[in-house]
Amino acid sequence: MSSPLRHFLGLKNFEEKAVREILSLAARYKAERESISWRPLAGQTWALIFTKSSTRTRVSFEVGIRELGGNALFLNGNDLQLGRGEPIKDTARVLGRMVHGAIIRTFAQSDVETFAEFSRIPTVNALTDDEHPCQILADILTIEEKLGPIAGRKVVFIGDCACNVARSWVYAAEILKFNLVLAGPEGYLSPVTNSYVTQTHDVKEAARDADVLYTDVWVSMGMEAEKAQRLATFQGYQINHDLLALAKKHVLVLHCLPAYRDQEISEKLLEERAQDIFDQAENRLHAQKGIMHWLSEPPVE
Ligand code: CP
Ligand code: NVA
Repeated sequence: MSSPLRHFLGLKNFEEKAVREILSLAARYKAERESISWRPLAGQTWALIFTKSSTRTRVSFEVGIRELGGNALFLNGNDLQLGRGEPIKDTARVLGRMVHGAIIRTFAQSDVETFAEFSRIPTVNALTDDEHPCQILADILTIEEKLGPIAGRKVVFIGDCACNVARSWVYAAEILKFNLVLAGPEGYLSPVTNSYVTQTHDVKEAARDADVLYTDVWVSMGMEAEKAQRLATFQGYQINHDLLALAKKHVLVLHCLPAYRDQEISEKLLEERAQDIFDQAENRLHAQKGIMHWLSEPPVE
């Protein structure tokens, strides 16, 4: 019988125990980056299959795979036969016979799920139109380093609440039991919600007493044709010093990056809080080493 396989396809239906295991591995990898002897990917090759642009995710996975003892193979999805119409399930069956794990950034969530099903190798969602779960684990690592346990805190997301990053935040709120407030214009609230989530169009009300103020781009990858309309619609949904004044004194300002200054965040606030925001970016590396380590240790059936 084949051993059970782990995947990391999203935070939807993900369990608190798994999140906690990954975060504690991540903290250990961060604290002992130079000295740790664990090499869970020794002798393995992991493929990155990306059909959208990336700086942080690509570099942090490539470096992370090497630091875990493996080899990273970057594949631009458009250069593969996939880009000429070969089905994802055939691509998955080929790669599954050659590499030991796959990190996928693409459009449809169903493509990542199909790849996981047919490849029979650990598969990671490195961003789809639905979710960006690796980002949110790095964000939680950052928040807990700086503010302590996230449970019971007020995390406020301002901007495009219908986007992938906001949706992964919605699932995370239910898993880790913190209060998530999403503030966005009409038509841009989250299509998914739960009892830990409040949605509003009122940014000021949202920002009041926030522990964390968080934002993401107004124009996600794949939405470029809507750019002009989005820039107009999102006016007023910027995190800046006016909102900071309403939040708690210790408020942490985070941005998943890339940042578009004076759109979703003011230049002044971004630069003032750059230390925290780039610590957050660095945590992508540590969190993903935790994810890949966790994937490499499937539970005994
Ligand atoms: N935050 C994030 O995923 O950045 P990249 O698009 O550069 O990978
Ligand atoms: N919502 C953004 C996240 C970028 C990291 C996008 O999908 O482009």
